[in-house]
Amino acid sequence: MRVLITWGSRLGGTEGIGRMLGDALGAEGFDVVLRPAREVHDLDGIDAVVLGGALYANRWHADARGLVERHLAELRRVPVWMFSSGPLDDSAEVKELPPPRMVRALMERVGALGHRTFGGRLEKGARDWMASQMAKTLSGDWRNPARIRAWGVELARALPDARPGQVVASPGGSIPRMIAYGLAGWALHAATALGLPAVFGAGAAAWLHALAAPLIFVAVAAAYFAPRGAQAPAVTAHAWTIGVAALDLGVVGAAARGDLELATSLGGFWLPLVLICAATRVTGAVREMLPFPTPSKPPRPGAPTAAAPRPA
Ligand SMILES: Cc1cc2nc3c(=O)[nH]c(=O)nc-3n(C[C@H](O)[C@H](O)[C@H](O)COP(=O)(O)O)c2cc1C
Repeated sequence: MRVLITWGSRLGGTEGIGRMLGDALGAEGFDVVLRPAREVHDLDGIDAVVLGGALYANRWHADARGLVERHLAELRRVPVWMFSSGPLDDSAEVKELPPPRMVRALMERVGALGHRTFGGRLEKGARDWMASQMAKTLSGDWRNPARIRAWGVELARALPDARPGQVVASPGGSIPRMIAYGLAGWALHAATALGLPAVFGAGAAAWLHALAAPLIFVAVAAAYFAPRGAQAPAVTAHAWTIGVAALDLGVVGAAARGDLELATSLGGFWLPLVLICAATRVTGAVREMLPFPTPSKPPRPGAPTAAAPRPA
């Protein structure tokens, strides 16, 4: 049985965990393929996948997320387990740490069978600036080889009978839904742009409008990101910002005022755009750290399940 162990790792700690798992599964007689997630181009001949991601600001490393996006259909056809690394203290040893919301959503999308959080590693001489600053107070290696190997042995026991897990519906993911929320945000934003000058005069209104724009998009983004499966915050932020820019220039500028002079206004055009992008991205990132709301109504019989995947 061929098992792919793959990881998204910035500083090598998660890769190390992947390799320890590989040793454990190899010792149990499995044919193990070890590969960084960004180098996985297909899952041909793979019978099961163990995917790990380093945690940065409660988000999985982009390579691990990217693998799920690129190979979603193939991942749904094989048993998948996931792991995250990791807390720079002994919290992962003391109790089972649940996956962050973003990882949970990825698990649900592929129907992953289980997840483990392992302690992380941060070396004093870490090469990126942020890591080196953190390492001044938090350096150390909290990966526990015995616990990692033990999970590898657990997987080895489960693998022979494992079947692909249950995919959980992600109602928030469609592109039309993202566009609809963006349009609603733009409509409110345009209404303030048209309404404020009548009350406050053109100069003050431009700056008030720049302040209102991010507040509007915080509210819209909070609603948009609430259900499972919304597009990624960065994707949403850029799509909405480009959409608002195009609609401002096309509808408010060209159609209503008959020129594109709006594009020369720092306070009336560029500043709101920057703030809309930042507000959407930050709201999405914050939302990813919060649990999904509990559905108010039980699902109809036969509807796609919203139950959590089975723990490992
Ligand atoms: C800037 C920064 C942010 C981090 N954020 C988190 C976090 O949100 N949660 C967590 O458990 N660990 C966090 N860590 C710890 C890393 O996940 C840990 O160092 C991990 O082992 C890194 O994996 P890698 O070496 O594979 O890149 C952070 C580390 C750094 C440097």
